[in-house]
Amino acid sequence: MIHEPLVLGIETSCDETAVGIVRGRKLLSNVLSSSVDEHARFGGVVPEIASRAHLEAMGTVIEAALHQSKVTLNEIDAVAVTGGPGLVGALLVGVASASGLALGLNKPFYAVNHLAAHVSVDLLTHQLPVEPTIALLVSGGHSSLLQVDDITSSITKLGESMDDAAGEAFDKIARVMGLGFPGGPALDRESVGGNSSAIDFPRGLTQSSDWQTRPFDFSFSGLKTAVARYLESTPNYNRADVAASFQEAIVDVLLLKAIAACKKTGIDSLVIAGGVAANARLRAVAQERCENSKIQLRIPAPGLCTDNGAMVAALGSLMVSAGRAPSPLDAEADSSLSVTTVSLV
Ligand code: KG4
Ligand code: ZN
Repeated sequence: MIHEPLVLGIETSCDETAVGIVRGRKLLSNVLSSSVDEHARFGGVVPEIASRAHLEAMGTVIEAALHQSKVTLNEIDAVAVTGGPGLVGALLVGVASASGLALGLNKPFYAVNHLAAHVSVDLLTHQLPVEPTIALLVSGGHSSLLQVDDITSSITKLGESMDDAAGEAFDKIARVMGLGFPGGPALDRESVGGNSSAIDFPRGLTQSSDWQTRPFDFSFSGLKTAVARYLESTPNYNRADVAASFQEAIVDVLLLKAIAACKKTGIDSLVIAGGVAANARLRAVAQERCENSKIQLRIPAPGLCTDNGAMVAALGSLMVSAGRAPSPLDAEADSSLSVTTVSLV
């Protein structure tokens, strides 16, 4: 078994063509080409545009990542790629590129889960073993609470959003407020200086009956409707106050449930991962509440929270070190891969 494998990871599940290289737990390079500007005028990611952009960018991004890492392709010990979930056409470009590369190099190929990769990127920031841990995974397509006993083999879903993902709620509210796409970073900026208790927006699934039946599930559709109604009925609304109050409602619920999951399972470690984990308010409130509850908090650097190649390489590196079986070279990308399936076999 290779002690500190040199792993190249490719991510193409959405609008980012991203390649990262890690050696063991050390990040060597993280290069990204985004087609976000090409989607902005449509208010969301257009799959066909994303797939074409991946094809165009792939070669250049791989070369740039190798160059920055000061390694050559021949030194790579394994190739990892996002095998799902994501946009199927976009995933296919990554999987075809990565399996071709692995075949050419005669090196193992790991088609891994995008969501598990989001969680595992934490190891590039915090070197200590993270398991067992509770993971709050909050991205544009998913919001889940997970119990991670071993990121390479044992992930249990404790709960998830019944409707929109947290990032999706940010994106939709930003759109109605005319803040553009993607909405998360825009709302994050807009909320600065706003009063987070100006408007008391609803916290979904936090009634006492919900704590009995759906303690670790989320729902953001009521919040979305409440914000939309507020905007309609208040023509001269204060943008910063609405942004801050909306953000507070999401942050509050996410952390209430994440900390409850730590307490229920007796696991005193929490990893927050996915694009929404870049949110400044979520990071600050998490820090405060975890300190109060004596929970060890880990959140990757903001640039590693949103989609990137390093997270895929990180999970690939862990798979190699744990001696997990590689994926077959003809593994098929799975656009709806379950969060509990770590890799395609
Ligand atoms: O993980 P990610 O990059 O892609 C997916 O796997 O979906 O997450 C993207 C989501 C988007 O909805 C985006 O608006 C949100 O993460 N996001 C944020 C912030 N940065 C990105 N949400 C709130 N605050 C941010 N600073
Ligand atoms: Zn993601």
